[in-house]
Amino acid sequence: MNQTTIPPLPYNPKALPRETARHYIPATAQDIQAMLGSLGLSQLDELLQHIPASVRMAEPLALPEELSYEALYRHVVEQSRKNCVPDMAFLGDGLPHYKVPDLVPFVAGLRELMTAYTPYQPERSQGTLMTQWLYQCCLAMLTGFEAINASQYDRATSLVEALYTAARLSRQGRTHFLLLGSLWPQDLEVVRTLLEGTRLTYDVVPIDPARGTVPLAALEQQATVKADTLAGIAFPQVGSLGCLEDVDGLTDLAHRLGVRAIVVTDPMLLATGGLKAPGTFGQEGEGADILVGEAQHLAIPPHYGGPGLGVFGMRYNAAHQQDMRQAPGRFVGDAQDEAGRPAKVMVLSTREQHIRRHKATSNICTNQGFVATLTAAAILARGEQGIQEACARGRTNATTAARALLRLPGVRLAFPDTPFWNAFVLALPCSSAAMIETARQRGIHLGVDVSSRLPGSTGNHLLLSFSDLQEPAHLERLTEVFVEMLGAPDPAGAPAHATTVTLPEVPTAYLRREPVGLPSWDGEQLRTFFASLSEQNISPDRTCYPLGSCTMKYNPYINEVAASLPGFAQLHPDAPLADAQGTLEVLYNLQEYFKAITGLPAVTTQPVAGAQGELVGLKMFQAYHRSRGETQRDVVLIPHSAHGTNPATATMAGFETVQRGAETLSGVVEIHAGSNGQIDLDHLRQLLTRYRGRIAGIMITNPNTSGVFETRFQEIAALMHAEGGLVYMDGANMNAIAGWVDLGALGVDAVHNNNHKTWTIPHGGGGPGDAIVAVSARLAPFLPGVQVVRTAHGYALEHPSQSIGSVHRHFGNMGHKIRAYTYLRALGRQGVRRMSAVAVLAARYLHQRLKGHFPTLPRETPDSPRMHEFIITLPEATFEKLEAAGISRTRAIGPFGKLFLDFGYHAPTVSFPEAQGLMIEPTESYTKAELDRFADAIIMMLQLVNEQPTILHTVPHFTPVDRIDDVSANKHVVVSARLTTMPPVLPNRIAPDQLAQMPLEAIAEAIRAASAAKLQDKQ
Ligand SMILES: Cc1ncc(COP(=O)(O)O)c(C=O)c1O
Repeated sequence: MNQTTIPPLPYNPKALPRETARHYIPATAQDIQAMLGSLGLSQLDELLQHIPASVRMAEPLALPEELSYEALYRHVVEQSRKNCVPDMAFLGDGLPHYKVPDLVPFVAGLRELMTAYTPYQPERSQGTLMTQWLYQCCLAMLTGFEAINASQYDRATSLVEALYTAARLSRQGRTHFLLLGSLWPQDLEVVRTLLEGTRLTYDVVPIDPARGTVPLAALEQQATVKADTLAGIAFPQVGSLGCLEDVDGLTDLAHRLGVRAIVVTDPMLLATGGLKAPGTFGQEGEGADILVGEAQHLAIPPHYGGPGLGVFGMRYNAAHQQDMRQAPGRFVGDAQDEAGRPAKVMVLSTREQHIRRHKATSNICTNQGFVATLTAAAILARGEQGIQEACARGRTNATTAARALLRLPGVRLAFPDTPFWNAFVLALPCSSAAMIETARQRGIHLGVDVSSRLPGSTGNHLLLSFSDLQEPAHLERLTEVFVEMLGAPDPAGAPAHATTVTLPEVPTAYLRREPVGLPSWDGEQLRTFFASLSEQNISPDRTCYPLGSCTMKYNPYINEVAASLPGFAQLHPDAPLADAQGTLEVLYNLQEYFKAITGLPAVTTQPVAGAQGELVGLKMFQAYHRSRGETQRDVVLIPHSAHGTNPATATMAGFETVQRGAETLSGVVEIHAGSNGQIDLDHLRQLLTRYRGRIAGIMITNPNTSGVFETRFQEIAALMHAEGGLVYMDGANMNAIAGWVDLGALGVDAVHNNNHKTWTIPHGGGGPGDAIVAVSARLAPFLPGVQVVRTAHGYALEHPSQSIGSVHRHFGNMGHKIRAYTYLRALGRQGVRRMSAVAVLAARYLHQRLKGHFPTLPRETPDSPRMHEFIITLPEATFEKLEAAGISRTRAIGPFGKLFLDFGYHAPTVSFPEAQGLMIEPTESYTKAELDRFADAIIMMLQLVNEQPTILHTVPHFTPVDRIDDVSANKHVVVSARLTTMPPVLPNRIAPDQLAQMPLEAIAEAIRAASAAKLQDKQ
């Protein structure tokens, strides 16, 4: 296509009413006036009158003017074309690039799968649960590991979690690790960043520069020295120089030493005909213990480095029954509903942070769920043969290219005796950087200069990686370009025929023994299968999705188009900067926009979720205190009402809680709430005195999880600063205040924005999310990763002077940054303020409609103005009726939440942060009529329960399955199976679309009838 033509959109925006509404707010001017009028107000800004004037954001916001829909589309297309993505690339370097099967974009377009939340309501989330189960099964078949989850952001963070897991598994409390120097340097940097200041320690064992691998003897020697404290050895199957490690020898060594063998692998290379499955490593074939890897490339293009998909696997077999209980994150398990129908549910989530808080095994909340869904689709679309071919093609392309290039003068393999698979390092007779630049000018992304990984290199080492993307013509052109730069084969010195070049052989012990046995399902059937799975979920596209604290707002279609534009999506993070100017400009602009939105002077775009933003914040706190010689600061203050990720993050950062009786000596200390639902200042003052000189900082969610703005935040921050501590603001609720509150004036030192909440990135049935962290001037030198800077010659990268190091292997979830950018360009300077004001209006209006029927929580605070969300509970009289019907007060809220499913809605957030609460966040994405129907439905639910409390024994009634027995699923955990036949998909008994068309009274009648029938069956 001509570079000036704008391709047609793949949908008709006019057929999507939320899509074309200004700022994606469908409420009309009359709707807004009517809602304001019912609250006795006349203008939006009156909603935020209670926010102190001293912390109000000055107007106008320093953002560009909003773009119309057409102008926005043209802009993102043109922006993507500022990148240069050649059709020949030999990059890779830990993030390979493969062909994407057609099923993947089809599944990515299934909105109910893409936009749904984490499957906390399993009866309404069987679609997501099944796709993630399929991912677990496919990966289990490829790797030979029995338990795989999708809870890690990328390979680097998965490696960090593997080290924590191995330390927990070590019965003697061992915390030291040996990491092979052949692991990816990007991953090692993340390990260094995240383990700094924690109780885990490690040494990196250097490679042998002649072999590109780590000698076993050297490793054993080092292991013996640290034998008493060693908990595990982490090694790659294919190292960062393309060389194959002796995985059997490494596994056996770890086991001989009584420590965990942690393997880092690429699942694509484990296809039939490929490399040995980690579940079978070792002379006896017992396998490695913990699996780490990257799976992004199995499903999606590089997207300049993310969203990634960290593979994390554990053994779950006769010899390892309990290990999995130490795994971070969540698994999907086999289950049954009350009627015995097969179903899926999340298992082992009792360890998750929302329950275990500072004792949680990990702080990850939003995970990589949707990339896992797409990976399942990609693997099943390829089938046994397809994935075998993709793997073999990479290998053949690599050997063909090596044979051709090794004939050229002065070109040799850097490690002539070490076997490789689909990537190898050449030692060149010239500078690799110069070769890369010359090739770039000829339209080729040649490879990666790995000279810095090799002691003694003269800057002449080049890593070339291959996949199924290269055609024979590409390989010929590659050779031609080398010849143009280095000259033709030397007839005297080089072998006469290319095939006579000898390459190191891959020993059979390194190869897979058994076929994987993946199913080969028909492509059309797979489409129907995934489409019907999506119908088991619901989406905020349809109607209000009231999950409090999760901001389930509308996710514009145009964001998806923008993120998948080839100029953005196909760009590899190792592309030369000159060819990545379009993407770098987006990153630069995002840095600037978030400075404007937060009122803080510096921003990082590297974190990939709110929880990771929190970790970045606390790591910067530690670095700041260290830089001032204040290493004694070992306490973090967190309000009791905070989301569980806050204390879990503090623990991961190294603030482990130490208690003596009821007294907390160090680590996470809880602050009480006062009678107005806000932080109790008297208690805070007591804590400041009690822990004087020891407080690293405070973490405050604002507005807090009860939906109340902390009006004395500025005072709290001043108290904290006076004590030498720092202030973290959990920005999960930015949808209520963006554009209205100046966080700099509030006294915030670091804040994360959850881009998958406020900034319209879809939740993907669990993730991937994304985050942008803004910081005060005191923390700016410590920012992670790189900053994009504008220079006279274009956009460039700069490392902050005292950076804590990277927290992601590349630039974070770049695909998501494009989505957030596209949204912000649609909002412009007026839209950001309008978005948050209408979100507050919707919540206030809904609360107004419900508060005559339901008490508000916390009970003491009915009159504190609510922002974007509010919490209600059942009236006392209803609790009493339920108790009389055998449903105790403590067990009533969960089933009441399931009544929402019967009315075609998702449930609100149940029992958090108030045990008997329903936290409702309507967002700005719905009209007054939609909010009114929702309010009427909730009131009708109450009437139904009051008149017939036993209904809560039988809810839900219209979802594909009845209530799921998660207790049994957690007792008899099954997290993978061999895939043979396509699993059946149960239909909705009444589909949400149909429910949306029914009068509420008709729904109530259908519920009464369905409940009576179920109760009869039970008798
Ligand atoms: C208040 C609050 N803080 C932190 C988080 C964690 O953010 P993420 O899920 O993006 O890691 C959440 C997530 O729902 C939240 O609601």
